[in-house]
Amino acid sequence: MSAGLVVRPARESDLEAMAELTGRAYTEVDERTFQRDWPGPEPRTPERNAAWAARTAHALRTDPEGCWAAELDGRVVGCAISRVRELMWLLSSFAVAPEVQGRGVGTQLIAAALHHGRGCLRGMLSASADPAAVRRYRLAGFDLHPQMFLTGTVDRDALPVVERVREGSAGDIDLMNSIDRQARGAAHLSDHEALMAQFRVIVKETSSSQGYAYVDGGGSPVLVAASTRRTASDLVWEAFASSAPGSTVSVHHVTAVNQWAIDVGLAARLSVHTSGYLCVRGMKPPAPYVHHGSML
Ligand SMILES: CC(C)(COP(=O)(O)OP(=O)(O)OC[C@H]1O[C@@H](n2cnc3c(N)ncnc32)[C@H](O)[C@@H]1OP(=O)(O)O)[C@@H](O)C(=O)NCCC(=O)NCCS
Repeated sequence: MSAGLVVRPARESDLEAMAELTGRAYTEVDERTFQRDWPGPEPRTPERNAAWAARTAHALRTDPEGCWAAELDGRVVGCAISRVRELMWLLSSFAVAPEVQGRGVGTQLIAAALHHGRGCLRGMLSASADPAAVRRYRLAGFDLHPQMFLTGTVDRDALPVVERVREGSAGDIDLMNSIDRQARGAAHLSDHEALMAQFRVIVKETSSSQGYAYVDGGGSPVLVAASTRRTASDLVWEAFASSAPGSTVSVHHVTAVNQWAIDVGLAARLSVHTSGYLCVRGMKPPAPYVHHGSML
């Protein structure tokens, strides 16, 4: 344990320092764990830092007791950001500055964040490939489910005709919450507002199935939830169709129970790899579902 270490509730004034240190810590893990045939890790861009800070600012407002910062000699060196939605505890970010890792800071931070979820029946987080992080999660009782990801250029000739997918809006939040409860076991509630501020949302509704997906500006789906695999697949195809020809798209965080997503990715001629784990407690990995890295 480090002398001079204080673990205390995170504040809005910590956002900049927390964005910087999480970006640095995640890039350092990527440098250590990326496969040789992948493009090298890129440091987090200022735009992605700002998106991280906006999502974290939202958590600070909704879950002040779930967000913790570690200060060493007056400098913010770590944080754990968690939220509770209905009866589910969700860990959004967990990082310690590389130069102070391995000194017990992370253990204290995660204990404080886990305490926020003490009344929850279920828990969910998306872990990096860092063995130190994974050790903490398993010791906290989480089951580890390896994640796959698909990446590449979409074969435009493979794009099917997709019907009845429309643009979503704030008026769809009740529908999306109900899809969440069915697919994930807890609604995103106000996290939908934070997601809508950063991504396009598309919705598919028929008499027998419903689903939605958040899609980034490049046509990569970053969160997909649906009542059937067919609907989930249609939403991913619709996202792919919006990518610029020749550009790279990715689908991250695909677990083994979501083979439908692998089938869509392979049909689009993307390649499949593995990275990190979906960690769940008190529940099975959701399906048909592709989780977002921090909003789950
Ligand atoms: C994960 C992280 C937050 C932990 O913080 P930390 O301050 O280094 O953690 P601690 O020092 O409290 O504990 C580290 C634990 O990992 C163990 N550990 C370290 N390297 C390890 C390895 N290669 N394999 C297995 N365990 C390892 C340590 O032994 C220790 O466990 P113990 O206390 O039970 O012996 C920090 O390492 C980090 O920021 N990693 C990069 C970012 C990241 O991947 N975050 C997780 C996102 S999901």
